[in-house]
Amino acid sequence: MTTLVAVGAQWGDEGKGKLVDWLAPKAQLVVRFHGGNNAGHTLVVDGHTTVLHVVPAGVLNPGTINLIGPGVVVDPGELLIELEALKERGVLRDPSRVRVSGRAHVILPWHLALDKAREEKARDRAIGTTGRGIGPAYEDKVTRRGIRVADLLNPEDLRHQLDRLAEQKNFELVEFYNWKPIDVEALWEQAVEWGRQLEPYVDHTARTLDRGLRDGMNVLFEGAQGTFLDIDHGTYPYVTSSNCVAGAVCAGAGIGPTQIDRVLGITKAYTTRVGGGPFPTEEQGEFGERLREAGSEFGATTGRPRRCGGLDVVMLRESATVNGFTALAINKLDILSGIGELKIATGYKIDGKVRNDFPMTLGELERAEPVYETQPGWTEDITGCRTYESLPDNARAYVDRVEALVGVPVEIISVGPGRDETIARTDPFRPL
Ligand code: IMP
Repeated sequence: MTTLVAVGAQWGDEGKGKLVDWLAPKAQLVVRFHGGNNAGHTLVVDGHTTVLHVVPAGVLNPGTINLIGPGVVVDPGELLIELEALKERGVLRDPSRVRVSGRAHVILPWHLALDKAREEKARDRAIGTTGRGIGPAYEDKVTRRGIRVADLLNPEDLRHQLDRLAEQKNFELVEFYNWKPIDVEALWEQAVEWGRQLEPYVDHTARTLDRGLRDGMNVLFEGAQGTFLDIDHGTYPYVTSSNCVAGAVCAGAGIGPTQIDRVLGITKAYTTRVGGGPFPTEEQGEFGERLREAGSEFGATTGRPRRCGGLDVVMLRESATVNGFTALAINKLDILSGIGELKIATGYKIDGKVRNDFPMTLGELERAEPVYETQPGWTEDITGCRTYESLPDNARAYVDRVEALVGVPVEIISVGPGRDETIARTDPFRPL
């Protein structure tokens, strides 16, 4: 039995979906533990593209059970659409392969409306959220007035809960944001229907996880977003509303820290960011445009163009610290082919001083000018490489340099979106 936590080391979109799908055949359980359908995990299997938002990426592997833990916020309508699409494609024949925690909080229409209303009002200070109601749903969870998946199965109590919530939510929507109220009667009918359709999937997922661990299963915990979008460790306030770091797995899935064996940090070979907030290595010009085009850097959830720039190891070192990475996976190395000289940020110049550590405050990060070192590029197409040795010398030198600068071994390298376009230098699930 091995437990592996896979998390994003940057601002999300590091290609976690592809890697989780590649890792999943070795795991019997795949678990989402935070976030919601703000995530968009793109998987390409046999030329067929699947984008998953809430269902764990292990679902494409027939032998895998996929858990949505209590730390996730679930939009029931969106989850049902995703499940239906998987059923139609014949990928999900047995509902017991997807288990949703009854304790996961539910995203309701108020949350979507408030997310959008707040962003509109904030104008130039907007976070650039995905508009999926994530922040407002976590807010209700923390203020202890949220509604959970199990509540959808109990229509009578649910009606009282919705009535209580409506008082406060509609007041805020109408009086503060000048938006239309949500009709509680219609919402209740809808929510009861959601409950009816979700019932076969609802589970005490922490117990299922515990059983799996006792049975000696390999377990893969699938992070969403990334370390710098973490509510505590990210570039606050330009972050999401959950903890995205590896430690979040304990509370969000229901597992003790003593049971985590390995933590895999996933990074792109360069850096991207969607939404607002500082981004020291951002390239506005031709180089950024080239990365965006070559890497298809457009959001899987919102379609927004991603901001692009060179690799930043100041960020990766901070990420390694707060997550305790035991290994790194570098994605999209193929996108750097033919780019010429490659820049890696190894420090920041802030107020005239060069530092190697990630700053504590947003103000310092906004003033940070990256200090670069350069690595020679390569021109060969590397998408056909399946071993580390078969990579061009300069591509290997780039990987080696990242490994040395971050101080964490690079165990996996991805050279294309397909499941097989992956170089594994070791088995991530090897016994300890
Ligand atoms: P929210 O999670 O929708 O509240 O958005 C908060 C911030 O996190 C925004 O900058 C979003 O662009 C970003 N974000 C949320 N989910 C993802 C993701 O899966 N990938 C990349 N950025 C994300």
